[in-house]
Amino acid sequence: MPDPLIRPATEADIPAVREIAELAWTPIYHEFRRRLGDELFDLTRPRGVKAKPDEVERLFREHPDCMLVTELEGRVVAFATFFVVDRAAGIGEIGNNAVHPDFQGRGLGRAQYERIFEELRRLGCHYVRVSTGLDDSHAPARRAYEAVGFDRELPTITYYREL
Ligand SMILES: CC(C)(COP(=O)(O)OP(=O)(O)OC[C@H]1O[C@@H](n2cnc3c(N)ncnc32)[C@H](O)[C@@H]1OP(=O)(O)O)[C@@H](O)C(=O)NCCC(=O)NCCS
Repeated sequence: MPDPLIRPATEADIPAVREIAELAWTPIYHEFRRRLGDELFDLTRPRGVKAKPDEVERLFREHPDCMLVTELEGRVVAFATFFVVDRAAGIGEIGNNAVHPDFQGRGLGRAQYERIFEELRRLGCHYVRVSTGLDDSHAPARRAYEAVGFDRELPTITYYREL
């Protein structure tokens, strides 16, 4: 595999980032639809598979310095967002991140997390957190986070019921 280049995102990367987000979240949204049912899924994500691309684009517009992309031979194949969430406590966060499905399992996710650790250390952080799902569609994400050293956890669950 050619050497990946991880660099700050620019406006020109947004179409590729949107496409990666849509493809990477398709299995996750499939699982959400199965668990929530069509009505609740459609109520909570009226834009369907565009929900994550929209969210990621909005994040970039609000925090343009907090997105990285990974290029392979000039093609953007992954992205990741990060934030300082508690400056006083020195805690940073990895936000939405994904690798294009055709390029998953090649170490690009890990490389982005390690780059974010460097960026957050440079910004004065001593800890980093990340939140993810406990459902099957998030198993790759959980494995990838554990593989880069996330070793303490606070499990949570989101319940819904009809009224
Ligand atoms: C999570 C994600 C970004 C990981 O990216 P990736 O480039 O495929 O991961 P890497 O190749 O760097 O693998 C990192 C580690 O996770 C493990 N891993 C990744 N995907 C895995 C899978 N499907 N099954 C088992 N292990 C997996 C790898 O074995 C590796 O561990 P190792 O270094 O000990 O061998 C990617 O799966 C993805 O885009 N998922 C969909 C979107 C998503 O869930 N984003 C996170 C939301 S919280």
